[in-house]
Amino acid sequence: MEVIILDDPAEIGSLAAGCIESLLTSKPDAVLGLATGSSPLAIYDELVRRYEAGRISFARARGFTLDEYVGLPPEHPERYRNVIDTVFVSRVDFAPGAVDGPDGLADDIPAACAGYEQAIRDAGGVDLQILGIGTDGHIAFNEPGSSLASRTRIKTLTRQTRMDNARFFDGDLDAVPTHCLTQGLGTIMAARHLVLVATGRSKAEAVHHMAEGPVTAMWPASILQHHPHATVLIDDAAARRLQLADYYRETYRAKPGWQGI
Ligand code: GLP
Repeated sequence: MEVIILDDPAEIGSLAAGCIESLLTSKPDAVLGLATGSSPLAIYDELVRRYEAGRISFARARGFTLDEYVGLPPEHPERYRNVIDTVFVSRVDFAPGAVDGPDGLADDIPAACAGYEQAIRDAGGVDLQILGIGTDGHIAFNEPGSSLASRTRIKTLTRQTRMDNARFFDGDLDAVPTHCLTQGLGTIMAARHLVLVATGRSKAEAVHHMAEGPVTAMWPASILQHHPHATVLIDDAAARRLQLADYYRETYRAKPGWQGI
């Protein structure tokens, strides 16, 4: 795992977007793993800027989102399909239907989850997966206790996650769904490159357990320690609990510019 601590949080967006630009340049039909939440917004804004400047195109790319609330009506603005469309997909040139997500309104949820896994496989797997992290160490909606080998399935959200996400539902905890469909940790681990972004003090404990704690289902993001190509982009506030922060800073400072992330 490469941990990169950036003084300027704005750099996180440009570094991740640069990585996606390189990927699309070498592989225009790349498969991107898209995440919701506030953390990746700077990446999407930077990708939109590069698209508008004519530097990149998503016309041949595919996208798969990580997760979805169960039961939100199709027009609900917090339905993740709508969120990702608003914050990113509709602002660039993806082909119609090129971005897929788990169906939180499916009648047969196990079949929908199995179908989603198959769709990712049929697309050739995810080349680059963007990730945020929850304050309890979840990635996608894999809450503490999730099987480290899990695949797309239904999960019950923890009270902590529902409280964290109530800000998107006018602060109304009761309006936050209790269940979700989420790619599993095994699904996420199959992506060829993982890029996790985290900013702010509230993420510091989860970032510490992810990067420096034991690999445990209690801190689901710690599974990234087993990934051959995981990049973690964080600001100073999210890095404040890291024991090896100085080492990560020195390593990145000394890294040749051509090497990429
Ligand atoms: C939600 C999403 C996660 C996201 C997390 C953190 O629970 N399902 O994919 O990583 O929130 O969100 P934020 O980046 O807004 O802190």
